[in-house]
Amino acid sequence: MPLAPKSETVDLRELPPPEVFFGRSARMAAVRETIQRVADTGIPVLIQGESGTGKELLARMVHGHSRRANFPWVKVTCPAIPLPLIESELFGYEKGAFTGASATKRGRVELAHRGTLFLDEVGSLDLAVQAKLLQLLQDGRFARVGAQDSRQVDTRLVTAARGSLREQVEAGSFRLDLFFRVNAVTIELPPLRHRTVDLPALIAYFFQIHAKTFQQTPKLLSREVLRAMERYSWPGNIRQLENMIRNFALLGDENALLAEMLAPVRPHRAAAIDLSRPVALKQIVRTATQELERAIILQVLQNHGWNRSKTAKWLKISYRSLLYKLEELQLGPQSDGDQTAGPAAPSSRAATVE
Ligand SMILES: Nc1ncnc2c1ncn2[C@@H]1O[C@H](COP(=O)(O)OP(=O)(O)OP(=O)(O)O)[C@@H](O)[C@H]1O
Ligand SMILES: [Mg+2]
Repeated sequence: MPLAPKSETVDLRELPPPEVFFGRSARMAAVRETIQRVADTGIPVLIQGESGTGKELLARMVHGHSRRANFPWVKVTCPAIPLPLIESELFGYEKGAFTGASATKRGRVELAHRGTLFLDEVGSLDLAVQAKLLQLLQDGRFARVGAQDSRQVDTRLVTAARGSLREQVEAGSFRLDLFFRVNAVTIELPPLRHRTVDLPALIAYFFQIHAKTFQQTPKLLSREVLRAMERYSWPGNIRQLENMIRNFALLGDENALLAEMLAPVRPHRAAAIDLSRPVALKQIVRTATQELERAIILQVLQNHGWNRSKTAKWLKISYRSLLYKLEELQLGPQSDGDQTAGPAAPSSRAATVE
C-alpha cells in the first residue's frame, strides 16, 4: 500500500533565527538576498548543496516567507518511495486504476494545493514521472493515475538535490526541459568548510538548544577544538556539527570531538555509493583521495603540534608541497611563523575560503 500522504504547515519560529541560519559569510548573504527576492513569488526554486548544508531548512523558509505559508507544506523524499508507487503517490489515482485501488486517492501534488510541494532528491525521479512534472510546471495541470481528464492545481515547487542536476542532464537521466523549469532560481548552499566564519554562532546556537534539552550549563570549547573545527572538512556539514555539539552537551568529552575530526577517513566503499544512477568515476576517486590526504595531514599536524616543517618531514614531502596541499585542501591560510602555527582568525580565514 502507498505510504499515507502527509501535509503540514511551517512555523518560522521553529527554524533557526536568520542571523544563525545565514551567518556572516558572503555566500550566505547572497543566498539570503535571493530568498528575500523570490520567496513570495511562485517561481520554482532548486536548492543544491552537500548533505547536511540546510537544504530542507531553506526550503521550509521559502515556504514560510511566502503568502502560501498558511497553506500546506508537503514534503516528498523521492528516493524513499519505491519507483512503481511514485507516480500514484505524487499524482493520486482513481478508483479501479489498478489492482488494489479500491477508492480514489489524492496525491501529494493535490495535497499541496495553494501551498508548497517540496521534492527532495528530485534527480531520483524516473523519466515518466519527470514528464508529468513538466506538464504540472508548464500549465498547472496533471492527471491522477487512471483518470481520463486532467485537473488544475495551484502549487509552488521547491526541489533539492545533493549532486549536480546539470550533470544528470548530461548523463541523460534528467530531462533538459524539466531542468530549465525547476531551476528558474537555483540556490547553492556552501559546505560548512567554506563558511568557517560561522562556526562560533552555529556552535553557540546548538549549545543553547541542546544544553537546555539535557538541563546542562553550556560548556565552552577549548581553543584546540575550535582550531581543529576550523580546519576540519565537515563531510556531514551542519548536521554533523549539530550532532557533535549535542553529544558534547550531554557528555562533555572534548576528546570525543577531536577523535571524530581526526579519524582517518576510510576510502569510499563502492557499497556506499548509489550506482543505480550514472556516476562520475573520476570525481569520486578525486574526492576520496583528497579526503584521505586531508585526514592524514590533519592527523600528522596534530601529532606535531601544528608544526609544518616537522609535518612535511614526517610525510616525506617538501615543505613547499605541504603548503600547496594545505592550500588545495582548504586547510590554509597558514601563518608564517612555523613553530607557532596557530589558527588564523575566523574572519580572515573566511575571507580566503569564500
Ligand atoms: N544554517 C543552519 N543553521 C542552523 N542549523 C542548520 C543549518 N543548516 C542545517 N542545519 C541543521 O542541520 C541539519 C541538516 O539540515 P537539513 O536537513 O536542512 O540538510 P539537508 O541539506 O537537507 O541534508 P540532506 O542532503 O542530508 O538531506 C538539521 O538538523 C538542521 O537543523
Ligand atoms: Mg534534506
